[in-house]
Amino acid sequence: MRPASELVEFPPARLRGLPARFEAQKIAFGPVVFQCVRVAWKSGLLSRLDQTGGASVAELATGDGLSEYAISVLLETALSAGVVRREDGRYSLTPVGDNVLHDEMTQININYVHDVCYQGLFALDACLREEKPLGLKTLGDWPTVYEGLSTLPEPARASWFNFDHYYSDSAFAQALPHVFARKPRMLMDIGANTGKWSLHCLRHDPEVRLTLLDLPVQLAEARATLDQAGLLARADLHPIDILDFAAPFPDGMDAVWMSQFLTCFSAEAISHIFRRAAACLSARGSVWVLDTFWDRQRHDIASYCLINTSPYFTAIASGNSKMYESSAIVASAEAQGLRLAETIDDLGICHSLLRFERAE
Ligand SMILES: C[S@@+](CC[C@H](N)C(=O)[O-])C[C@H]1O[C@@H](n2cnc3c(N)ncnc32)[C@H](O)[C@@H]1O
Repeated sequence: MRPASELVEFPPARLRGLPARFEAQKIAFGPVVFQCVRVAWKSGLLSRLDQTGGASVAELATGDGLSEYAISVLLETALSAGVVRREDGRYSLTPVGDNVLHDEMTQININYVHDVCYQGLFALDACLREEKPLGLKTLGDWPTVYEGLSTLPEPARASWFNFDHYYSDSAFAQALPHVFARKPRMLMDIGANTGKWSLHCLRHDPEVRLTLLDLPVQLAEARATLDQAGLLARADLHPIDILDFAAPFPDGMDAVWMSQFLTCFSAEAISHIFRRAAACLSARGSVWVLDTFWDRQRHDIASYCLINTSPYFTAIASGNSKMYESSAIVASAEAQGLRLAETIDDLGICHSLLRFERAE
């Protein structure tokens, strides 16, 4: 045996006994915990614990579902993560488990991470190096996720739209009065997606006219939304690839609206979007940006969720976009001859609304 003086000390003295070491293991095993808790929820285990107020593994293994072995694997991981507690061999839900089982935002985030992001994130290092969404091939064969949105395979499609709409819908109703206080007659919705915001606007004001910009495949969905509502007559559909920087925007706009849109693009593309947005404004026009800025959040939980959405943009969405800080967006707009006229925080779950005017 080697003398003690030659043995490598493990762990090194500077790391021993630190709570930080446990926190580091939570990162190391994060994906394992995520999958076990997700399966415990999806398989109905958490729900059974909720309904019964507590149960043993033997009681949970009823023969028509998971075996005692499988249940013990899931619940022991859930125990380690504080999702369940165990007393006298009986498991019950903790407040964390309660959130997994009942909180809509938690469930939307779990589904989005699993169905949209999980497999693609495996390629994150190459995506970051090449600034390409190489992980997207786990879902389909498109240059960016946006060309594939309407044909994403299920459950990725439902999880993507639930995630997107959960956050943006929550802010639409509150943003509407701010935008319409200025009585826009011509309003352009860039990145109109399924047409939800345009629908809100057309219903809100019978005199407003909407111009919807998006990729052709996505505009087909928006058309169907407005047609179904009988509002297509006041809408102009303008297919565009916004990344074709030479393509101008239709002009004479009193309001240019971009909701959860700039996050889809690189800093360079954003500056070209602002340049064209500024150029298409009417004399009294405003550019409105509704987005989720992690530096403008009241609660850490919101900043945490937003910051950790950025790697999805790298690996799946576009390869070169992210959840920006508001200061980066404001600086980009200012460089294109706009000036920040208004900032309204705390709309919906975690949105801010920025209004820009021409600087001169
Ligand atoms: C995250 S969604 C936001 C949708 C909507 N504005 C909202 O708030 O829910 C981004 C939208 O931008 C569109 N988009 C992405 N890349 C685009 C491009 N190169 N040209 C035009 N539209 C694009 C997508 O099709 C999608 O509808």
